[in-house]
Amino acid sequence: MVKKKVLVTRKWPASVEARLARDYDVTLNDTDTPMTPEEIGAALNEYDAICPTVSDKLPASIFTGDHKAQIIGNFGVGYNHIDVAAAHAAGLTITNTPGCLTDCTADIAITLMLMLARRAGEGEREVRSGNWTGWRPTHLMGTRLRGKTLGIVGMGRIGIATAQRAQAAFGMHVVYYNRSTVSQDAMGALEATALDSIDAVLKASDVVSLHMPGGGANSKMIDAEKLRLLGPKAMLINTARGDVIDQDALIHALQNGQIAGAGLDVFDGEPNVPEALMSMENVVLLPHLGSATTETREDMGNMVADNLDAFFAGRDVPNPVA
Ligand code: DGY
Repeated sequence: MVKKKVLVTRKWPASVEARLARDYDVTLNDTDTPMTPEEIGAALNEYDAICPTVSDKLPASIFTGDHKAQIIGNFGVGYNHIDVAAAHAAGLTITNTPGCLTDCTADIAITLMLMLARRAGEGEREVRSGNWTGWRPTHLMGTRLRGKTLGIVGMGRIGIATAQRAQAAFGMHVVYYNRSTVSQDAMGALEATALDSIDAVLKASDVVSLHMPGGGANSKMIDAEKLRLLGPKAMLINTARGDVIDQDALIHALQNGQIAGAGLDVFDGEPNVPEALMSMENVVLLPHLGSATTETREDMGNMVADNLDAFFAGRDVPNPVA
């Protein structure tokens, strides 16, 4: 039987590249450099399946209609880099990888929270630069997390996992806003109070962690007005998507002491990071590491492969993007 042609746009862990290559005629991107939307558009006419990542752009303009490709197996849970409506209109099935990256992304949200609250980035820079002069009672004093309020915007899997960690490990109170009701079943032992608006969460919290999807109505949702609600002692954590924060407004709020600090794993216009953010001490910056563990990246690749296998065997795909 002729093998289906599959394009993998970036380098994957070797074990999942090997799995895919056993069953498909796979083109791997050994250079591991981003493909342009035009190149991905051309590939839609050459391959049966395209497997992009968050660092690819698949705008409406590349979905011209009569494609050879039938499925986009996205390597990642977020899919705001794909114009889903245009891809669906062009007859393509889209799948993603929910669930397997929940724990690791929540771990990174907690990492940012701790680094910010305990000024770990500043301290590390000081040691490495040779400027540390020794222990002193008022040196790099941070903020204790125990007893503080964590506000979650977007109480899906990752929001819940972040809140569970913060409550179990640091005794934080948790408030949250979610568009739909979240069942106690989904939250397990977590004790969290639902508030009726994002504004209420921003006003009530010492630390706010963002977990809503990017794009659409969520783009620039945290704007200058919302940032003003946080207050000068509050910290903002973002492991979701860069575009959910108005980055210029955030820089202004940080520069003017409207908020205490920000921990960011994602940026609007990645991999570009504004110089203003890089020069501020009260900001922790990570290069989109949320799902970056060997185990999770292998799980993500295997989920993409499971979806392709189901699709080409004529079964329902396990993780369709609606
Ligand atoms: C995702 O899956 O959406 C992450 O941002 C990258 O792993």
